[in-house]
Amino acid sequence: MNEKQPIGLFDSGIGGTSIWKEVHHLLPNESTIYLSDSKNAPYGEKSVEEILQLSIKNTELLLSKGCKLIIVACNTATTNAIDYLRKNYSVPFIGIEPAIKPAALYSKTGAVGVLATKGTLSSKLFEKTAAEFAKNTITIEQDGEGLVPLIEAGKLNSNETNKLLIKYLTPMLPHNLDYLVLGCTHYPYLIPQIQKIVGKNVTIIDSGKAVAKQTKAILEKYNLLSDSSININFQFYTNGSLAILKTILSDVKDEMATKNLDF
Ligand code: DGL
Repeated sequence: MNEKQPIGLFDSGIGGTSIWKEVHHLLPNESTIYLSDSKNAPYGEKSVEEILQLSIKNTELLLSKGCKLIIVACNTATTNAIDYLRKNYSVPFIGIEPAIKPAALYSKTGAVGVLATKGTLSSKLFEKTAAEFAKNTITIEQDGEGLVPLIEAGKLNSNETNKLLIKYLTPMLPHNLDYLVLGCTHYPYLIPQIQKIVGKNVTIIDSGKAVAKQTKAILEKYNLLSDSSININFQFYTNGSLAILKTILSDVKDEMATKNLDF
């Protein structure tokens, strides 16, 4: 293993690019390979076994491309499969979980909302984290069913998306929440619409920056941090729409290789 090998990331689609952006911002000298498994989105409606098999398939593809570390850029895959991946593959894995720990810690009203997929909310890992860190907090959980397919279709600011957000978020408001946790890597792309619905007194948090910091710490620990930008590259593979992947990455200035791949 050497520091010039790429970091691998995978998600059930384009959502994990919100994590890629944070990682690239903090670690600009790292080569990366991103897998957008859009063909199989949404993972959140699948069984634990299906999520596990898809996570294994993505991991093995990234390992075959020489990745030195893998970021599971998907809450649903992390909460259902990361224990297995860590036990069965030797590279370090970084996962992403809904940020209920900081939300519960900082909440002044004692009420926080969590918008995540069914797969994440029903996972054992989420249950354990909530029991450990939010036991004195009122946690209002909401399954965001239907949001991932709309984001995958590029309908970020459509009527359909806004209607679903209103349906899911307005029932939370009477609980006087002051934090809303976005427990799905697709959802940061909806922050402007979400903020309008919940109002400015609710702080929206996700785990992107924490994942980037943790990635840096683990690379340092294993002496795998790249210290120069010479010969680095950013590859993105999708088994879905290349056009939508390119659109979601259009705010990134660096040159990126985006390709279709059947995986
Ligand atoms: N981005 C994935 C997550 O963080 C979406 C899951 C799905 O495909 O349902 O959970």
